[in-house]
Amino acid sequence: MSEKKAGGGLQGVVAGQSAISTVGVGGIGLNYRGYDINDLAYKCSFEEVTYLLLKGHLPNQQQLNELKTLIWQKRQIPCKLKQILETLPKESHPMDIMRTVASIVGILEPETKPGQEYEISIRLISLFGPALLYWHHYSNSGIKINENTGKDSIAENFLKLYHLKSEIDPLVVKTFDVSLILYAEHDFAASTFAARVTVSTLSDFYSGITTAIGTLRGPLHGGANEAAMQYLEPLRSIPQADQFLNSRYQSKQLIMGFGHRVYKKEDPRSPIIKDFSLQLSKTASGDPTLLAVSQHIEKRMIEEKKIYPNLDFYSASAYKQCGVPTPMFTAIFVISRMTGWGGHIIEQRSNNKLMRPVSDYTGPAKKQFVPIEMRNNANL
Ligand code: CMC
Repeated sequence: MSEKKAGGGLQGVVAGQSAISTVGVGGIGLNYRGYDINDLAYKCSFEEVTYLLLKGHLPNQQQLNELKTLIWQKRQIPCKLKQILETLPKESHPMDIMRTVASIVGILEPETKPGQEYEISIRLISLFGPALLYWHHYSNSGIKINENTGKDSIAENFLKLYHLKSEIDPLVVKTFDVSLILYAEHDFAASTFAARVTVSTLSDFYSGITTAIGTLRGPLHGGANEAAMQYLEPLRSIPQADQFLNSRYQSKQLIMGFGHRVYKKEDPRSPIIKDFSLQLSKTASGDPTLLAVSQHIEKRMIEEKKIYPNLDFYSASAYKQCGVPTPMFTAIFVISRMTGWGGHIIEQRSNNKLMRPVSDYTGPAKKQFVPIEMRNNANL
């Protein structure tokens, strides 16, 4: 850590070095390993970005083909995991399923030797979606899905398995894929930092990932996309949106999907996902009212509070229009951020130092010890 005294929430503290991404420090905007987020979102696939984040460079065609084959092989759900998923209640939150899947795979396929990080990362990136959807369909309707949809992309495989369809609208697939690219990496975000702290103790890869999933879940971090959809869903007109905002302003409650620790103006990912959400709203299965309400809330928040939407705000309407249920939104974030977490665990281990900061002690001065038989309220 730098010598700077940590403010609340370690705000502004430089907690280490990383060559994986920058969220704009140095004036070069959000990029992954030097590539601008706009180029990656509009010109790449999530699989290419996965390779970039884990291996450090973009793949050539042969390397991408090999990765796609590996993903296809690694999406196979182990029988023992299927048996466990079948026992989990349908009321479980998808984030509990994700954390449990990471934990169980860590038992069934433990990390046993150095150098397995890439393989384990691809295993989890490939398996998380199929495992979640196996549990979803089994617990809701007793269907045991066949997770293998061929050499489909992660996005296409997820959407086909969720909708139980063999064809998905290409715009829906593209939107989902772009969201995975945008969510893939974001420097020392809380969940990534948590994963790095865990592996800095020389703990195993899976422990780093379960730590990260638990940290991502909260609505101040990854849980914001789900939380945003929860308030957006009932708002079916502009007056209703106004009423909602006014009451939140009055009660000084946070509006999830707005604000960011680093970006005090526009989150560079927000216009990209908004673009796709708007495109979807103009299709037959789109929801133009949801977009009109979202844009109205965005306009008022910027004009009246100077607070901008983050990636989670328009991801909510994008996922909704992809037909995905709200409780799965943050779980999709897990599938994506698994790439960044993997890259950061590899980087942390390449030059490891135990992460162990100190606090600014604000407790009492040294006290005289009082034996239990002599304690009363006055001398505690
Ligand atoms: N709604 C209402 N007011 C807000 C919001 C919001 N979403 N965000 C910040 N503010 C206010 C905050 O109350 C504070 O006001 P005051 O100075 O009067 O106390 C001021 O803006 C500064 O905010 P802050 O709390 O110092 O900012 P922070 O850097 O600690 O917090 C944040 C960043 C993301 C936790 C916060 O903006 C927030 O809680 N947003 C809502 C949750 C959310 O959307 N999280 C997703 C973050 S981006 C993706 C990710 O990391 O997963």
